[in-house]
Amino acid sequence: MLQTKQLTKRYEDGQLALDSLNLEIKSGEIYFLLGANGAGKTTTINLFLDFIKPTLGSVLINGIDATKEPLEAKKHVSFLSENVMLYGNFSARQNLDFFAKLGGKTNLTKADYYDLLRKVGLQDVAFEKKLKTFSKGMRQKVGLAIALAKDADNMLLDEPTSGLDPQAAAELVTLLKEQRKAGKAILMCTHDIFRAKELADKVGIMKQGCMVKQLTRKEFLEEDLERLYMEYIGQTQIESR
Ligand SMILES: Nc1ncnc2c1ncn2[C@@H]1O[C@H](COP(=O)(O)OP(=O)(O)O)[C@@H](O)[C@H]1O
Ligand SMILES: [Mg+2]
Repeated sequence: MLQTKQLTKRYEDGQLALDSLNLEIKSGEIYFLLGANGAGKTTTINLFLDFIKPTLGSVLINGIDATKEPLEAKKHVSFLSENVMLYGNFSARQNLDFFAKLGGKTNLTKADYYDLLRKVGLQDVAFEKKLKTFSKGMRQKVGLAIALAKDADNMLLDEPTSGLDPQAAAELVTLLKEQRKAGKAILMCTHDIFRAKELADKVGIMKQGCMVKQLTRKEFLEEDLERLYMEYIGQTQIESR
């Protein structure tokens, strides 16, 4: 379970990036946090990972306070960042091996790594190639394999479809459905409304650090999510079609 309670972040320069955010994502749920650039999505993820400290409020992973007990909390979460940081001189398999071990998985074999890389849709010929030759989409796939290898109860995904081609994005959707079935709690930060329609159990629309609207799947399927999104983030209304 992923939770935030009155979570607030004011950066040192005075910027209020997050204002009293309350979230609860249970096992077997995919939550889409939608919002324009600067809405506070990455800030929320960085607070879960204790990369930054909250100004007020709390952030919990499986009930463990991620600010007070970050090492314990982080055992229960895997993370895919928007810009996956990997070692350019290591192959895909070597990066996976390195980060899996860092995440506490010491029993995986070469065959397990190949299975994981195949599962995320990386081509076999790329498994032993150096990362510095990879496209953004290929890096993203290795990052996803690292997240899957950890097999934590909770997943944090920051703009995971941003570098992916349509086929890879569709594969990601299939993978996330499997993860949901396996009981993971998944927080996905994105402005990808189309994936939200496909996949989300709940969506939250954020604007300038505030949650302006939360909708269950049933609620957003009854309405036009794209129109609602535009309305709530206060951009120009879409022409009626
Ligand atoms: N380290 C930082 N210092 C000061 N302001 C920041 C910092 N990181 C992000 N911000 C500001 O906080 C707000 C939210 O940013 P962010 O969480 O990155 O939004 P999103 O991921 O939704 O695009 C933005 O106004 C951004 O400029
Ligand atoms: Mg961001």
